[in-house]
Amino acid sequence: MSFCDLALDCVTKIQPYVPGKPIEELERELGITDIVKLASNENPLGPSDKVLAAIAEASRDVTRYPDGNGFTLKVALAEKYKLNTNQVTLGNGSNDVLELIARAFVSPEEEVMFSQYAFAVYPLVTQAIGAKAVIAAARDYGHDLQAMSTLISSKTKLIFIANPNNPTGTYLPVNELEAFIAQVAEQTLVVLDEAYVEYGEQDIDSISLLNKYPNLIITRTFSKAYGLAGLRVGYALSHPEVADLLNRIRQPFNVNSLALAAAKVALTDDDYIVKTKQHNDAGMSQLLAGLAVLGLSAIPSKGNFITVDVKRNGEEVFAELLRLGVIVRPVSNYGLPKHIRVSIGLEHENQRFLDALGKIV
Ligand SMILES: Cc1ncc(COP(=O)(O)O)c(C=O)c1O
Repeated sequence: MSFCDLALDCVTKIQPYVPGKPIEELERELGITDIVKLASNENPLGPSDKVLAAIAEASRDVTRYPDGNGFTLKVALAEKYKLNTNQVTLGNGSNDVLELIARAFVSPEEEVMFSQYAFAVYPLVTQAIGAKAVIAAARDYGHDLQAMSTLISSKTKLIFIANPNNPTGTYLPVNELEAFIAQVAEQTLVVLDEAYVEYGEQDIDSISLLNKYPNLIITRTFSKAYGLAGLRVGYALSHPEVADLLNRIRQPFNVNSLALAAAKVALTDDDYIVKTKQHNDAGMSQLLAGLAVLGLSAIPSKGNFITVDVKRNGEEVFAELLRLGVIVRPVSNYGLPKHIRVSIGLEHENQRFLDALGKIV
């Protein structure tokens, strides 16, 4: 007997998410230390001292369950964005809320739309609920909103848009997004996934669209610019009724107490976000300049990563970089066989990557 015969058909068809290779795993395999990991779009600066202190303080109380409502973090988020607390849904990372949205709203007879080259979790959650994925062809590696509009049908229940997108880093101005959302029927939910929003333009005000478009859901995370990927905390901002429904199906304690404490303090740390963005901009310039010397280019990115056209098999380049102790991300699973994605790291890490790549190409 195979357990696959017992499992739901939609589950057996899932292509598992492949995370970036852990440093410890490569250390074991190669027997070397001093490995550089630029594979999961984390903040290389780490959390701020204030946040580390909050985590240490909260760790004294881990014998208790966390606040199942995440009350104080919701209050802090609502104040920051001038919303009500009943518009906030907390998740174990924003992945969690992306999945909750699909589970709460989409039936197997309905469709979920996203773009070619869009974030890997969208096909995954769509497949997990047995719904049909409708994939709109990309334009210049980014979302083609025109193409997406033409694919909307009466069955389209959910549209995922990552802005900036991972792995391509492409970005859509908010006015273009608004024009798109304005012509989507109210019965179709639009999820604007802004995991990398802190790295982009400073004039972004997508939050104000929530008051105009009740079918809009914005998701954000503490995993990227806030430097808390290991703690797993993200959130959705939405119409209160949507938040109420998402809260009904989330696990009662889906965000742990260290994450709640850290996120609340991180949210007040504006200087840290400014420093993070400046650091990212400098690292991006360093990488682009170094790539140009190697005769290579990258897809223009508004995130904390770039996707480089290596002009040859990206999986092979990834494997050769591994042997040199540098972990990046191959993106052939996204339909980009000649690219690799590189997260922007510390200056010496970026240089290690450039030197290693220079030996290969
Ligand atoms: C576009 C996008 N959305 C969401 C996420 C989920 O991040 P997390 O679950 O850590 O909040 C990621 C992580 O890589 C991402 O790239």
